[in-house]
Amino acid sequence: MKQKIIIGLLAFSWVLAGALVYLHKDRVQLVKLPPESLAEWYKPLNKRHVWLHNMFKLRREMQAVRHYAALEQAEPLALWAGRLNDHYQEIRKMVPEWGGRLDQDSMRRLLNAQQENQYEQIDGLLGELQKSCDTCHTQFRTVTAALYRAPDFSKMQLRDSETLAETMKALNAQVNDIKIAIGANDQVWALNSLGDLKTGINEMGVLCESCHSFLPKTYPDEVVETALGELHTALVSGDRRQQGEALGKVAVSACAQCHGTHRIAYDTQQLINSKNGFIELLRH
Ligand code: HEC
Ligand code: HEC
Ligand code: HEC
Repeated sequence: MKQKIIIGLLAFSWVLAGALVYLHKDRVQLVKLPPESLAEWYKPLNKRHVWLHNMFKLRREMQAVRHYAALEQAEPLALWAGRLNDHYQEIRKMVPEWGGRLDQDSMRRLLNAQQENQYEQIDGLLGELQKSCDTCHTQFRTVTAALYRAPDFSKMQLRDSETLAETMKALNAQVNDIKIAIGANDQVWALNSLGDLKTGINEMGVLCESCHSFLPKTYPDEVVETALGELHTALVSGDRRQQGEALGKVAVSACAQCHGTHRIAYDTQQLINSKNGFIELLRH
């Protein structure tokens, strides 16, 4: 009896979900998530992005097989076809749930053609195999990159008990203070706020170094430093138009550039990870 009620409720919730999705079909985009076993092949569970590196190998091997088939060179062709097969099979070993997505038939025919030196067949068979790559990529490539490779800023913080979002709000308030002060012709307020903004930007720089250490200096880099210097000069001796322009340059170089990469990627990751997707939908 209990079981029946549970099954009934489940069925009802699916019908409800289906109806909601149908009603909002112009606004709902269902994103398929990759199997959880994929996480094992990415940081932090793994030391490297093993899955992605296997993919790079596959692309290289497809290219080499095509190359040596065109040249009709049996020996290197055998070597690269063997590697291609090994790494293609790695897909199913790493993520068993995706085993059925492999086109084993085309792979077998490819290896046969290679063994029988039927070079002219190979290009077409690579094309067939490529379809299995493309189908999976269309569904899972972007979502995987966002889930496992976009830096996660949610646990990063500059000071104790201040999240990155709070730091961001403070920086934003300083930028807006400068803008309002320019309008009010209040030079003291503008310069004080610029001082606070510079301090905040320099503090942020420490955060970047943990990942961008291979570059000379990521943040604030020369472009940001120059923009801050020009803003200072404009606030001291420029007119309102020059001040506005200089502030715009600061906002683009110090804020928008990073938002264009990190914030978009991070927000996408949060969106995919959010467990509230269905609740959001119900609220519509
Ligand atoms: C079962 C799913 C699946 C199959 C089959 C598959 N891939 Fe992938 N591939 C992925 C996923 C998921 C990503 C995204 C990985 C990431 O960005 O970290 C990816 C990414 C890639 C990339 C990196 C793309 C880029 O430009 O950043 C290459 C190259 C690639 N795959 C090549 C191949 C080739 C060649 C084949 C076929 C021989 C293939 N893949 C088959 C799932 C698959
Ligand atoms: C958790 C690691 C991490 C942190 C922290 C981090 N980044 Fe990045 N950043 C990356 C990765 C990974 C990429 C992508 C590199 C690629 O795919 O080419 C990237 C790319 C970028 C890019 C675009 C590519 C480029 O070099 O122009 C900018 C701009 C950038 N980061 C700025 C920053 C700034 C500014 C900070 C600090 C406020 C920062 N990042 C902090 C990991 C990080
Ligand atoms: C790491 C590169 C990076 C730099 C540099 C950066 N931001 Fe951000 N910003 C982010 C990320 C990531 C988020 C999303 C944080 C979150 O939602 O937890 C964000 C969020 C924000 C938000 C929304 C905060 C909220 O939740 O209400 C504002 C406003 C903002 N940034 C302003 C700025 C300003 C102004 C600057 C320049 C002075 C700046 N940011 C520089 C990465 C950056």
